[in-house]
Amino acid sequence: MRIRLRKCSLIVKTFILVGLFMITYMVVELSVSSFSSLEKEDHTRNRWERDLHATEEKVEDLSRPLYIKPPPNPNAPGEWGKAAHLQLNSAEKKMQEESIEKYAINIYLSDQISLHRHIQDNRMYECKSKTYNHRKLPTTSVVIAFYNEAMSTLLRTIHSVLETSPAVLLREIILVDDFSDKVFLKSQLANYISSLERVRLVRTTKREGLVRARLIGATYAIGDVLTFLDCHCECVNGWLEPLLERIGENETAVVCPVIDTIDWNSFEFYMQTGEPMIGGFDWRLTFQWHAVPEQERQRRRSRIDPIRSPTMAGGLFAVSKKYFEYLGTYDMGMEVWGGENLELSFRVWQCGGTLEIHPCSHVGHVFPKKAPYARPNFLQKCINE
Ligand SMILES: *[C@@H]1O[C@H](CO)[C@@H](O)[C@H](O)[C@H]1NC(C)=O
Repeated sequence: MRIRLRKCSLIVKTFILVGLFMITYMVVELSVSSFSSLEKEDHTRNRWERDLHATEEKVEDLSRPLYIKPPPNPNAPGEWGKAAHLQLNSAEKKMQEESIEKYAINIYLSDQISLHRHIQDNRMYECKSKTYNHRKLPTTSVVIAFYNEAMSTLLRTIHSVLETSPAVLLREIILVDDFSDKVFLKSQLANYISSLERVRLVRTTKREGLVRARLIGATYAIGDVLTFLDCHCECVNGWLEPLLERIGENETAVVCPVIDTIDWNSFEFYMQTGEPMIGGFDWRLTFQWHAVPEQERQRRRSRIDPIRSPTMAGGLFAVSKKYFEYLGTYDMGMEVWGGENLELSFRVWQCGGTLEIHPCSHVGHVFPKKAPYARPNFLQKCINE
């Protein structure tokens, strides 16, 4: 009996031991398997993250310009759009004065500033964080007419467009030489341009004036949208997408960038960071700036909605090619420059369109010290006809 009892307790003990083993085994197994499944989850999350990055990269690729600016050189004059001041001896000062006399712009200084300088992007943060579906946006041809422009300001304009416009949106830049007589704008310019992709140079055979020169350029355009720029501009990153997106939404919108001032003497880039001004005119049909009226403030839903403007300041705007033709383009009888901006503005409003300024699109413009070239027949024409 005792032996049996002892045997019994031995069997019980063995059972308990085996049981314990099994429980331990199960616990270990469970924890291991849950760990490995965790690891698997980590793997899938990693892959998902990688895919996300890949699509982000693709989006970035579509905003890539045709040419990438060289890295900024903080010691170079004018980098980041800062004012440039040179230490000049008296002979150099004299040359600087001469260039100002000739061009009404400090071209002596412009020649020392990189053609690829970076401009500090101080736009509203909503503008900087906005993303675009580049595949859905219309494409554009940028038309730049010039007459006896200095080389460095003209080339800086061209490089700036090439280096800030997404390659998928920029079909071409069309330069129209309105019968300049400066020697360097002949073969030297043609040679320089020939090394650049998507830039073509058209020359008029007689002096046409800004309006007809632009229209001649437009006839070569293959993009959906015509973007007109002046020949001494610098574009801020992200300037093009807002214009094209708006025209993609509604073809009858004619959209202007905010025109920032580049100082004619120091080349400092003054970015207008707050609410832009809108265009008006006085009874001499001279263009004027006005604050945005309360009614328009109420109509807009956010700070980055386009602002309706009665008139445009001048040479900088984007318009659907089809709508521009529907409007009858510019008045072909216009001479030299001045007035065409108001004429086109009135057409837009009278033909069911809207004229707008987009707060996210910024282009700098050198406003010369004085009118750069004479308009000899300007008033005479007005009186005679
Ligand atoms: C485009 O804008 C015009 C002018 O505001 C408006 O009359 C028209 O309905 C708009 N078209 C579309 C498709 O939104």
